[in-house]
Amino acid sequence: MTQYYFVLTNPEAEVILKEEIKLRYPELRLSYSRPGFITFKGVKDIKFNPLFCRVSGISLGKFKKQEIKFEKAWFYSVNNKWELPPEFKSLSDKSIFKKGESVNLVMMTGADEFWVGSYTLQSHHFQTPGEVSSILQKEVPSRAYYKMAETYEAFDLPFDHQETILELGSAPGGASLFLLEQDLKVLGVDPGEMDPIVAKNYDFKHIRRAFETLTENDFKTGVDWIISDINLPPTIVLREIFRLLTFLEPRGIIVNLKLNDLKHLEIVATIRDQMKRQGFEKVELKYLPSHRKEIALIALHS
Ligand SMILES: C[S@@+](CC[C@H](N)C(=O)[O-])C[C@H]1O[C@@H](n2cnc3c(N)ncnc32)[C@H](O)[C@@H]1O
Repeated sequence: MTQYYFVLTNPEAEVILKEEIKLRYPELRLSYSRPGFITFKGVKDIKFNPLFCRVSGISLGKFKKQEIKFEKAWFYSVNNKWELPPEFKSLSDKSIFKKGESVNLVMMTGADEFWVGSYTLQSHHFQTPGEVSSILQKEVPSRAYYKMAETYEAFDLPFDHQETILELGSAPGGASLFLLEQDLKVLGVDPGEMDPIVAKNYDFKHIRRAFETLTENDFKTGVDWIISDINLPPTIVLREIFRLLTFLEPRGIIVNLKLNDLKHLEIVATIRDQMKRQGFEKVELKYLPSHRKEIALIALHS
């Protein structure tokens, strides 16, 4: 029997997402799309959970405003050109969905065009309509502040006070700032300059070199976490991280894998096994609201 599926993604990730669908769900066909919103046609009972999207689920079709009658639903406008009708906005604001519940998601894609979707709310989802970030905007050195804050929230990262983070590709310092705000110590590695708000913090130290030059001698004490946001291909970043793991023993690793080339999708397919071979029991991937052509990889010792 025919079944339609939907995804909400960021426009920058659409090409990667379509490629991922081709590889993982060859039986699906592109059906309808607007920037950031895509539906696919296929058969029933596919376990549909593509990586390069904020949220995905079953599409129940296109509706007009007067046809939408829910007691509880989240509403999301895919483009800020279209403002949600006030009654939809207020129903959305008061609707609460809990983990394990089926979410009714109404996606506004035109002046009087609404698509209804349904998905099961899971622990890695944000509890917001359309999986938009709930992190408050403020003045920060870079967008990486939000990526780090969203990673922390989405994975409920078990940081302990005053743990040491080795941050690879730390400049100008958005992620470092977020980590310092969590009472962590940051050892930032980047040939680039750090924002003064980070550089002058007592808990921040800068190794102003390329990460390929790091050796055992750079670490008087161990590190608890390795975090990377280096803008190099994932093959290079992972090779270097695996080299660091020959003399460092972090509790966990968080890597923003940059996928500027579609051939790097193959790495995403094998990354879980690679990390498990390194002894990490919990390995997860998540596309975050602030992501463009990238995805967060988390590997933890349990
Ligand atoms: C996306 S930016 C990082 C943003 C940063 N995490 C923040 O919070 O502001 C990527 C960084 O990777 C750094 N980078 C690129 N190649 C590097 C290398 N071989 N070693 C260390 N850093 C590198 C760049 O200098 C750049 O600052």
